[in-house]
Amino acid sequence: MSVNFRRPLISGNWKMNHNHFDAIQFVQKLAYLVTKEDFEVVDVSLNVPFTDIRSVQTLIDADELRFQLGAQHCHFEENGAFTGEVSAAMLSKLGVKTVIVGHSERREIFGESDETIYKKISAIVKCNMTPIICVGETQAERESGATEEKVLGQLRSALAQRSPEQVGKFVIAYEPIWAIGTGLTATAQDAQSVISAIRNEVLVLAGAEAAQSVRLQYGGSVKSSNIAEIMEQPDIDGVLVGGASLDPDEFARIVRYRLLA
Ligand code: 13P
Repeated sequence: MSVNFRRPLISGNWKMNHNHFDAIQFVQKLAYLVTKEDFEVVDVSLNVPFTDIRSVQTLIDADELRFQLGAQHCHFEENGAFTGEVSAAMLSKLGVKTVIVGHSERREIFGESDETIYKKISAIVKCNMTPIICVGETQAERESGATEEKVLGQLRSALAQRSPEQVGKFVIAYEPIWAIGTGLTATAQDAQSVISAIRNEVLVLAGAEAAQSVRLQYGGSVKSSNIAEIMEQPDIDGVLVGGASLDPDEFARIVRYRLLA
């Protein structure tokens, strides 16, 4: 589908990296490298560990930085006896704007089900934050031709019974599991093909307006050497970057992909 008028969203998923001292240094350095002109044309979210959130928020506020503060996880209840958990309400109080949900590492290592993910998305939306909903297939599923079945199944589960207005504001990240942290990247054309299937499914589930405004990211071994080609694809509106988001120089090159030859 389409002329791409959606604002690109470049997200750094730090995973369990960078303590709050590292985080402060990182954000200060990135703030030098990313210019006002960049923010005219691109949104940038920093999805940092819980322990970094307050430090990064303070810096963003004090220096009026335009990075969007992000988290990687939350619990779906507002409060209660859930030892070790953090609620969406607590994150929103800290100025968090985006929360990653359904990441394959949460699904696989921590056993999060489609049902849990559904509830988390509802909690995130209730607190006026944007979910970055991750979907993706394993190597075996790809090899057996089951990519779309898996990805669209996860998508249908996440979007069931949601209003078109809500869905239009979501971010959905297609992250093929075999491309995460492996150095293997889906070709830009393969990523475009699955992501365009996602947009078509959003059209079926939530209508044309939602399909035109929902932002679709690619994630999996994104770096400055492949970002330009990925972002050229008509249905790809951004990227969710793991390893390459940990170094401010490299992440700045990714954010400024339009300047790469
Ligand atoms: P890498 O960029 O390290 O492959 O990680 C991708 C990812 O999981 C982002 O959420």
